[in-house]
Amino acid sequence: MTQSPPEIPKDWFKNWFNDQYLKVYSHRNQTEAKQFLTKLPIWDDIDRGAFCLDLGCGSGRYAVEIAQHGLNVIALDLSVPLLLTAVKENSIPKQILYVRGDMRQIPAKPVFSLIVSLFTSFGYFSDDEHQQMLRNTKELLKSNGLFILDIPNPKAVRKNVLNNRFSIRIEDDLQIREERYLSDDGLRVIKYIKLDCKGESKEYYESVRLYDAEELNLMFDNCGLISKYPTQGDYNGEPFNKESPRMIYFTGVK
Ligand SMILES: C[S@@+](CC[C@H](N)C(=O)[O-])C[C@H]1O[C@@H](n2cnc3c(N)ncnc32)[C@H](O)[C@@H]1O
Repeated sequence: MTQSPPEIPKDWFKNWFNDQYLKVYSHRNQTEAKQFLTKLPIWDDIDRGAFCLDLGCGSGRYAVEIAQHGLNVIALDLSVPLLLTAVKENSIPKQILYVRGDMRQIPAKPVFSLIVSLFTSFGYFSDDEHQQMLRNTKELLKSNGLFILDIPNPKAVRKNVLNNRFSIRIEDDLQIREERYLSDDGLRVIKYIKLDCKGESKEYYESVRLYDAEELNLMFDNCGLISKYPTQGDYNGEPFNKESPRMIYFTGVK
């Protein structure tokens, strides 16, 4: 195992989010999505029948729960395999529309009461692209709309990279080797994933920008987004503290 981060293919996110991703992250399941959404303090403030945009919806585990709360959901993702799973397993025909598209290129019309970016669906691109995405998200929100952004807490990630650099586990017929690194500038977490299944090996990568609270608040401020509810630190509704695993922001138009 090398100590320096491997070379990351620029468009790693176009290949990785496939059926094997769902196995590697099988603990990120429907039960977790339901628990998280049920405890959110937001539902009384959003009209039933309002429109929600799920940015990076994956297999639709959140879209289907948001629809159960009475919203209409446009669920967008780039991955064809994950969208196929979503349509097969998490369909509510009159309420959820699954759409293939790039979250960096959405025509901005202020029609959404809720926009969500959940379980680290933000941070794959450049700083400029991330700022532009936040600007665009603000333009997509109605004046009283809410944007939920759920990203990892950099402090928890850095600790995990240090204490858990290498791991190996079995999930069904899949052997999963994971190596975790920080980029040379310390601003991104990089994961190398090697999967072995029935004699066939595949390699994948993740590279996610780690934003701390200060940087992110500046980015929100730059595009006219302000906090609407206290930041949460996990999927159980606990308030954020320095050791929290997640940073879950609830912002809206200033
Ligand atoms: C970590 S997964 C989270 C999926 C889902 N939110 C969940 O919690 O299960 C990130 C998702 O973002 C999608 N994604 C990555 N790049 C994208 C892009 N440029 N445009 C749209 N979706 C993208 C991936 O295909 C993947 O489904």
